[in-house]
Amino acid sequence: KKPAITVVGSLNMDLVTLTDRFPEQGETVLGKEFFTVPGGKGANQAVAASRLGAEVKLVGRIGNDPFGEVLKETMEKNGVFLTDVKPVTDVASGVATIILSESDNRIIVTPGANNFVTKEYVESYKEVILSSDMVLLQMEIPLATIIYVVELCHANNVPVILNPAPAQKLDEGIWHKVTYLTPNETEKEVLFGNNLNQALREKLIITEGKRGATYFKSDKSYRIKGFPVQPVDTTGAGDTFNGALAVAFAEGQDLKKAVTFANAAAAISVLKRGAQGGMPNRPELDHFLNEREIL
Ligand code: RIB
Ligand code: NA
Repeated sequence: KKPAITVVGSLNMDLVTLTDRFPEQGETVLGKEFFTVPGGKGANQAVAASRLGAEVKLVGRIGNDPFGEVLKETMEKNGVFLTDVKPVTDVASGVATIILSESDNRIIVTPGANNFVTKEYVESYKEVILSSDMVLLQMEIPLATIIYVVELCHANNVPVILNPAPAQKLDEGIWHKVTYLTPNETEKEVLFGNNLNQALREKLIITEGKRGATYFKSDKSYRIKGFPVQPVDTTGAGDTFNGALAVAFAEGQDLKKAVTFANAAAAISVLKRGAQGGMPNRPELDHFLNEREIL
């Protein structure tokens, strides 16, 4: 049976401009190229998990504009069930304005319809959430919703991965109710600095880009090295990691295997442009691991 994964999160249209360098204040520079691709951390993680063989539902919302239509169709094409295909009236779909240079990226996310993924809205999908093997959350929807889902799952023993991106502070008690926390290094610093107690540390899986990911057991840390590749676009690599991690855990893989699986999925995903472009399907990922004699 396919593992059932529910993502409660965002859908964005990514508006990507490639440039040699970023403009200074008040300056205009000529860009090299522009493209629009579906994104949003919720949608990205949902697509990653679906391609790897999970049955995925995305509790999310789109706006009343052409972007919303495209985002909806993208979920369908990827086999992700989107809970609400009716757009939020008079609200724009989520948008991410992304400036990419060879060495850096800068992103502004405007939530739009994602702000309407309220606690009340999500409450009406309570049964969906409670019947999942694994729930995935990020931080591009209202904090009150995140808190609601974490508490609901905690009370009902449904495991939750919270990807705290973009980093926003929560009451310490909420972090403790999550099963796994997957910040990158910057997010980890912003959220916890040096005040990490042992209980929290053991929930952490820190993503470290091409270097891989680190987790903790008792007082030891374990880094699982990333797979070396030549990246074309690293947008969404973290999302691929999270979607794959959810699938691995839902299948019962142990921590080390799951992180290796997620590292591999993320490495493959950066070989193609766009957050969702390049995310592997299951045969592709199995082949990649087999070739490296890991399966
Ligand atoms: O994690 C990458 C995603 O962050 C992009 O797809 C963009 O939409 C932003 O939300
Ligand atoms: Na990609």
